[in-house]
Amino acid sequence: MNRNKVVLGLQWGDEGKGKVIDVLAGHFDLVVRCQGGANAGHTVVVEGRKTVLHLLPSGALHPAVTCVIGNGVVIDPLALQNELADLGPAGDDLRPRLRISDRAHLVLPCHKIIDRVAEELKGDNKVGTTQRGIGPCYSDKINRIGLRCGELIDEALFEKRLRILLAAADRQLAQIGDERLDIEAILAETLPPCRAMAPMVTDTVDFLHRQGRAKSVLFEGAQGSMLDIDFGTYPFVTSSNTGIGGVITGSGLSHQDVGEVIGIVKAYTTRVGAGPMPTELTNADGEALRTTGGEFGATTGRPRRCGWLDLVVVGYACRINGVDTIALTKLDVLSGRSELPVCVAYTVAGRRIETIPGRIEDLEGAEPVYETLPGWSEDLSSCRHFNDLPEAARRYVAFIEERVGVRVGWIGVGPGRDEVICR
Ligand code: GDP
Ligand code: IMO
Ligand code: MG
Repeated sequence: MNRNKVVLGLQWGDEGKGKVIDVLAGHFDLVVRCQGGANAGHTVVVEGRKTVLHLLPSGALHPAVTCVIGNGVVIDPLALQNELADLGPAGDDLRPRLRISDRAHLVLPCHKIIDRVAEELKGDNKVGTTQRGIGPCYSDKINRIGLRCGELIDEALFEKRLRILLAAADRQLAQIGDERLDIEAILAETLPPCRAMAPMVTDTVDFLHRQGRAKSVLFEGAQGSMLDIDFGTYPFVTSSNTGIGGVITGSGLSHQDVGEVIGIVKAYTTRVGAGPMPTELTNADGEALRTTGGEFGATTGRPRRCGWLDLVVVGYACRINGVDTIALTKLDVLSGRSELPVCVAYTVAGRRIETIPGRIEDLEGAEPVYETLPGWSEDLSSCRHFNDLPEAARRYVAFIEERVGVRVGWIGVGPGRDEVICR
């Protein structure tokens, strides 16, 4: 096994991937994002200061780490420019060690407009997207009409192709509603951030291959398994493969380069946007998790739906991704409860199942089967060793390991870099 590691979300996103990446990144030469785009919101807290990264890899704050935005990511040049500017001096420091794939597709203003208009048209069937243009950009990619970062090398040709793409998007908008594009305004808005990005664009596939086995790579997943376009709660998903497959197709490295797969699991469940979530709590317990856990979207600020830990979801995500180790986050948020229900199966049409059904209607009708574990009252934030945890918290961790069959190697007890137990 090589030294590389992959960090993947195993629920509906926001599991705490950013923090885990930040904690690990100092031990790696490269951090690579492979899919998704500015729909991600990855929080890192360093010495009490919070930074939310959307497009930039969460290794950005480590001065010796090279950050790579791989070919599977969709990049909004304006969002990238703003994110680098928001980082201030840290952004200037990052620029020379940021590499952007020439094969990555560009998210353009038309994609964001289509994202919004398409959602409005869906009425009650809205996905609740982040409106960052992700779905429409990936659609153009699959449709073979997208624009890739590598085209920036020849600005005249790029502008010509951009005009063709915008004209197609305008025709699409005319068909689905009455909104139209101001093509000249979009060009004026888009070209300067594209120009600023161009020097960072390179053949990242070749760059990564040239690094060789001497360099260590940390792959940063975005979103989570239940938002995966194939394995998630379709159609209430994002438009990329958020799991181990996306790591390979989104970086150009191979299965031999993967190394350890770390699955991030929040100690309870959250979801932003629409779609089934069997353990959702719409009562005071859900409200309490939201308040104590600070469960508001890092990208859109929307309140996250909250519920008990769902081990059907976690077990399924471990299986489809070949997870070696679980990093359990936010265990501290569960303090102060006398008991903690954990979902171990669903009842669907009178049958007990322990996997995620493919039909969305089956998942919508799934009744969670709970086992109830004892809770604990102690504050966990100062625990640094497994044995510092109260017995009931240790039992909670052991229960996850028993049911899912994967070791919990890492436990988060607060948002800060140091608030972690390594086992
Ligand atoms: P990501 O999208 O997976 O990177 O997760 P987000 O950053 O969207 O949301 C996770 C939130 O939980 C952030 O506010 C983190 O600062 C916070 N967080 C991460 N790990 C822990 C933990 O172990 N305990 C607590 N209390 N907060 C944590
Ligand atoms: P991180 O990386 C949580 C959700 C949206 C919506 C669906 C589709 O921070 O975990 P999209 O804009 O991708 O077309 O929206 O996916 N979603 C996320 N939820 N965390 C994320 O990223 C998400 N990225 C997208 O809320 O339901
Ligand atoms: Mg997030």
